[in-house]
Amino acid sequence: MTLLLVLFVYAIALGVGLARAGVRSVTKVAVVTSRGPSTRLLILGATGGTGRQLLAQALDRGYLVTALVRNPANLLAEHPHLTVARGDVLDYASVEKAVQGQDAVISALGHKRFFAPTRILSEGTRNVLRAMAAHGVRRFVCETSLGIGDSAGRMGLYYSLFVIPFVLPFYFWDKTRQERLIAASRLEWVIVRPAVLTNAGMRGAYRHGRSTGSFLWTARIARADVADFMLKQVVQDSYLGTAVGVCW
Ligand SMILES: NC(=O)c1ccc[n+]([C@@H]2O[C@H](COP(=O)([O-])OP(=O)(O)OC[C@H]3O[C@@H](n4cnc5c(N)ncnc54)[C@H](OP(=O)(O)O)[C@@H]3O)[C@@H](O)[C@H]2O)c1
Repeated sequence: MTLLLVLFVYAIALGVGLARAGVRSVTKVAVVTSRGPSTRLLILGATGGTGRQLLAQALDRGYLVTALVRNPANLLAEHPHLTVARGDVLDYASVEKAVQGQDAVISALGHKRFFAPTRILSEGTRNVLRAMAAHGVRRFVCETSLGIGDSAGRMGLYYSLFVIPFVLPFYFWDKTRQERLIAASRLEWVIVRPAVLTNAGMRGAYRHGRSTGSFLWTARIARADVADFMLKQVVQDSYLGTAVGVCW
């Protein structure tokens, strides 16, 4: 009983920490209005679940896509408008090379190193932000997660009291660092925080905003719908400088 109470207090304390450490407020972002249409898009994480959806949908929408990937053999797509750049987000030189000449960068980075402290997401994102600033690439759309900043608790009780505190604490803590770096940048940024991801087909109808998700039930959304929403943020300005939740 005492142990349960201690674990419960730990879970609540972590939730409070994630709420305070993640992005909470809207930041004023200067939009470059003279920009032409975005046509050249760099996708990070294109071999992953959301990334594969981003890649397919971006090519369908007519973008000239560059995919920065660690292992090109994992990229299942071939397309005349697709350039594959071998690299690693932790290697600044490869990031800088891929960022040059792009109109926008979209990130679906993730990893599976759950049980040890890591800085993969935050350090990788730091390199991306630095390269974007150096080369005048303004628009950055980045996938993080519900459960951080002003969305703390919105993944539902099961995730808030069990999965995040006991499986993903290091991962989520690094996401708070990632979010803070993005919010401190002078770019046109949108942080997209999805609910629990599924590989279901695209519905095309989902909720988005700063109060999506549920404090009780596990909210979900398909990666295909997240990709649809993220690609919209490349050209729309309504959520600039904010962290926005998405779920069915
Ligand atoms: N799963 C969920 O329910 C859930 C819910 C909310 C939010 N999210 C977040 O959504 C994001 C996407 O998740 P997902 O499951 O769709 O993606 P995923 O399958 O985990 O894919 C992650 C991608 O990041 C790439 N990557 C990792 N480290 C890299 C590095 N150092 N350099 C370059 N690329 C690197 C991976 O490349 P490799 O193929 O080379 O490994 C892969 O393409 C993650 O941040 C995740 O935390 C997930």
